[in-house]
Amino acid sequence: MSHLIDTALTKSLSAGQPMFWLNPDYQSAPNQPQTELSRLDIEQADQRLRRFAPLLQQLFPELIANQGIIESELHQVTELQQQYYPDLLGKLMIKGDHALPVAGSIKARGGIHEVLCHAEQLALQHQLIHSTEDDYLTLLSPQAKAIFNRYEIAVSSTGNLGLSIGIISAALGFKAVVHMSVEAKQWKKQRLRDRGVHVIEHRDDYSAAVEAGRRASQADPNSYFVDDENSSRLFLGYAVAALRLEQQLAEQQIRVDTEHPLCVYLPCGVGGAPGGITFGLKQVFGAAVHCFFAEPVEAPCVLLGMQAEDKRHPESVYQLGLNVTTEADGLAVSMASGWVCSMMETILSGVFTVTDEALFIHLYQLYQSEGLAIEPSAAAGFSGPNWLTNTPEGYRYQQQQQLQPLMSQATHLLWTTGGLFVPPEEMQKFQQRGAQLAT
Ligand SMILES: Cc1ncc(COP(=O)(O)O)c(C=O)c1O
Repeated sequence: MSHLIDTALTKSLSAGQPMFWLNPDYQSAPNQPQTELSRLDIEQADQRLRRFAPLLQQLFPELIANQGIIESELHQVTELQQQYYPDLLGKLMIKGDHALPVAGSIKARGGIHEVLCHAEQLALQHQLIHSTEDDYLTLLSPQAKAIFNRYEIAVSSTGNLGLSIGIISAALGFKAVVHMSVEAKQWKKQRLRDRGVHVIEHRDDYSAAVEAGRRASQADPNSYFVDDENSSRLFLGYAVAALRLEQQLAEQQIRVDTEHPLCVYLPCGVGGAPGGITFGLKQVFGAAVHCFFAEPVEAPCVLLGMQAEDKRHPESVYQLGLNVTTEADGLAVSMASGWVCSMMETILSGVFTVTDEALFIHLYQLYQSEGLAIEPSAAAGFSGPNWLTNTPEGYRYQQQQQLQPLMSQATHLLWTTGGLFVPPEEMQKFQQRGAQLAT
């Protein structure tokens, strides 16, 4: 394999030990934008989601209470902090995307945004609407459904992106095809089939399922492939979370500025969801926000991808002798999105890795202290505050960014990313496993 095998970092990764990597190219105020995308693009994505809000409310009555906006709560978690992070200075909080309605995971904003982009484009093309000012409820008419039904929307997924894309596509009348990789949970496939989604089960990993899905979709001119590895529509949908979080923090009178840092810990698979959120948060909070990704020790694909000389061409973790076996199905990805890695080049602060045992302990502790139930992937970020405040690498980061005097004013945000639809018997097994490991 490549030059990478010799470095101390790849040796640690190969050993499957939890570790914390600081991005040497991080710039608190990047000299040059990494991308053509800007805050305006995020605001346009937010506007699109708002245009569709009345229609979403009709399709998903659970959205009525929030006027058709798919959003999660920002939780104060004082019990969790007191019991399990007793020495942490500053405030611990949770952004509860584990309970995002409709799709039940962080994949809701991005996935639904991308399908709505496509539906809007088709609706304009077929003159179902004539401008974006029109009443989008007409897209629920039998005539609109008949048109959408001539088109297919396809995606490859480890589970949660498939749920997001499949549910909204089928609800709008599209033919929906979800290519599930080997780790996808049975209940996620069943949930989709119950909604008329065509689920294709692959025996290979996620990267192979993406390849197969992309190829099959390209062969059909009426098929649109949601490309998790390369999609700015997904990315911008995820990024909308930053605008919403800005508002929620302000409502709860939590300051974020150069004197009050915000440290965010995001579970990471191929990189799109945490990448889009990081991009959004940087647009909103600039140098005041510090974003860290969390990956399983068996699937540190973005950590590895960030080492590549040319970030657009990441290597696979199989080359490190790892085999991507993890109960964190949403994070079980062997190769990162090169596009996301290049977008993260100067704005991502670092990446840490986590064992499956730690995931179960953390999901158990969260349930015990706060009554919030999450799936294993969603607990990946929970060791982040300890890495940042209690390890040599963390001290180094604090020193580099002159954070030490500010840590008592910091907010640490754990982003919980999935869990709402986990069947109760599965959730009970997660809890039992966490309880055994915790004692
Ligand atoms: C629960 C959960 N958390 C986090 C992620 C990570 O998102 P991404 O693969 O875009 O990095 C996923 C991906 O499916 C997920 O299902």
